[in-house]
Amino acid sequence: MKILAFESSCDETSAAVVEADGGKGERVILSNIVASQIDIHKRFGGVVPEVAGRAHIEAISKITHEALKTAGVTLSDIDIIGVTNTPGLIGALLVGVNFAKSLAFANNLPLVPVNHLKGHVAAAYFGYSELYPPYLALVASGAHTSIMDVKSHTEFETIGFTRDDAVGEAFDKAARVLGVPYPGGAEIDRLASLGNPDAVKLPSPAISGDALEFSFSGIKTAVVNYVHNEGARGGTVCREDVAASFTRTVCRAITEKLAAALDLTGRDKLVIAGGVAANSHLRAAVSEMCAGRRVEFYVPDVKLCGDNAAMVGIQAYYEYMAGSTADTALNAVATGD
Ligand code: KG4
Ligand code: ZN
Repeated sequence: MKILAFESSCDETSAAVVEADGGKGERVILSNIVASQIDIHKRFGGVVPEVAGRAHIEAISKITHEALKTAGVTLSDIDIIGVTNTPGLIGALLVGVNFAKSLAFANNLPLVPVNHLKGHVAAAYFGYSELYPPYLALVASGAHTSIMDVKSHTEFETIGFTRDDAVGEAFDKAARVLGVPYPGGAEIDRLASLGNPDAVKLPSPAISGDALEFSFSGIKTAVVNYVHNEGARGGTVCREDVAASFTRTVCRAITEKLAAALDLTGRDKLVIAGGVAANSHLRAAVSEMCAGRRVEFYVPDVKLCGDNAAMVGIQAYYEYMAGSTADTALNAVATGD
């Protein structure tokens, strides 16, 4: 079965063609075109919702042609159309939803709505043909920090979350105060490898106690205050040390809560996904924790951690197999699990 999928929930416009065959368990990416708006939003220091929506409209037809061409298929080869309809920026989501809806209607194809977070997790299926629910999953991105108990391919229960900012937001804020352009997560990752993680004492984003909850606002503010105070005192800020201390504190907090979630659920498989799952230190820390507990660790290829439509396509496949299709009344929903 071939799936044409769309992703437009934030600042990447993406179209992909994915092939899935339930019988053989094959999941193949035939094309995965991502048009990033980073250069457009960089000058504002973050994503501007209206600008994002307009940029999606400009890009979506072109990247759809590109996705079909790269995959070597035409619309007549496509079996279903998948699209992210929640959560995300409403003006951004509406572009993908309306485009996918029109295409499905015009070609008489089933339309399958996909939750963006489930899509992030599903990206792991491409790397591991043996991965099968149930398992535990972390989605760590610019907008979410959620621990989910994945009971089946389509049934997710959120058991851990952040009370305020997402982990990616904290990375981006730390980057900004260190003079690294938006989105600075990947650069903080690189700087962290060069610094001393014991240099700066920062508060843990793990809420103390048993709750599987995070709060990233404290560490965000602490990094800003540290940099400003050092500046006011005439001291020099070692960006590598700040990045290393920040990264280790964040990685420890996430690893600690994931270990608690594994204890609570008894799951023996763990997937980490989302843009922040590209972080080399987080991958190493969680992998080590899993190895110590005989838990199988899965993480998508770095290229599939950020927003892309291939992850939406494979989740659309499982949603379709579970009987989930939408009609032309499908709407976009800004907030969702
Ligand atoms: O999943 P994603 O592409 O978009 C959302 O759904 O939010 O995640 C984007 C986030 C940004 O905050 C970005 O700085 C962060 O992922 N990110 C990283 C790394 N690569 C991307 N954070 C830490 N380390 C990285 N290597
Ligand atoms: Zn995302």
